Amino acid sequence: MIRKIDKNSIGEALRAAYDHCKNDAGGKNADYIPYLKNVPSNLFGIAACLPDGELLTVGDTDFRFGIESVSKVPTALLAMEQYGAREVLHKIGADATGLPFNSIMAILLENDHPSTPLVNAGAISACSMIRPTGDPAAKWQAITGFLAELAGSSVAVIDELYRSESETNFNNRSIAWLLKNYGRIYDDPMQALDLYTRQCSIGVTAAQLAVAAATIAAGGVNPLTHKRVFRSELTPRIVALMATVGFYEHTGDWLFETGLPAKSGVGGGIMAVVPGVMGLAAFAPPLDSAGNSVKAQKALSFIARELDLNLFGTTRCTMAVPAPAEA
Ligand code: DON
Repeated sequence: MIRKIDKNSIGEALRAAYDHCKNDAGGKNADYIPYLKNVPSNLFGIAACLPDGELLTVGDTDFRFGIESVSKVPTALLAMEQYGAREVLHKIGADATGLPFNSIMAILLENDHPSTPLVNAGAISACSMIRPTGDPAAKWQAITGFLAELAGSSVAVIDELYRSESETNFNNRSIAWLLKNYGRIYDDPMQALDLYTRQCSIGVTAAQLAVAAATIAAGGVNPLTHKRVFRSELTPRIVALMATVGFYEHTGDWLFETGLPAKSGVGGGIMAVVPGVMGLAAFAPPLDSAGNSVKAQKALSFIARELDLNLFGTTRCTMAVPAPAEA
């Protein structure tokens, strides 16, 4: 069964989700990174990017917040683009950990494997892989350039957030050295950690995350710029990783409720991909116990129900607008 959705039904679903969730007072800002504690808790925005590049937005979708763990998605894609998906599977893995995002136990349980590029261990390992190895400045260019191409606009680090993370990332330092001990860091470990910390400190808007999600949904062609950013065969790979571990120890609950592959960050952002259809993003700083935005989850879950976005359902939603043409 095919259900056609269009710009109007998506716009209505976004507005209804916003109204439904705007007064939700659940969760609290992350405080283990001091900067995040002080971001206004009442910010809330939802964005959708359609196959023709049109953006539908409601609320605070132009506010720049810390991308945090959502940055693990572009860097995993870049590593797969540079090395091929199999090599990333071999060097890092693609398993759910069922444990918190910064778990050291997960590394030990998985036979020294970082599990997946979408938890801290795997993301630090992915940063170590990014080419050209041995040249942190060029690696940084590659990481930020790739994210900007996915999002269709430039991105920059929030300096205060970067300082705040660098001064408090003791657990991640331990992860980097433990992985080095197990041969899972493919460059200098402290440089890999710094790249990871910097990429988490990049400021993005919900609108930018929606465009990045739409680029993934469209098989690697950015619907705004029409540029090919990555090979189309990587879309099912990255979507599988997002579905497997996008909400850490709450991933099963999320997938059970929504059937929507998505990735969260402790800055309050969530990016969701509806393959072949569109990209969605939501942002609100207060988090649940696993580090996922309460309001953004609620809003995306509402939209998934309204528009039949569950990938496991018998109804498939499609859009009348065709996939973006490649420039
Ligand atoms: O490494 C950290 O702990 C943070 N920079 C990112 C963690 C994060 O966003 C987890 N996601 N929900």
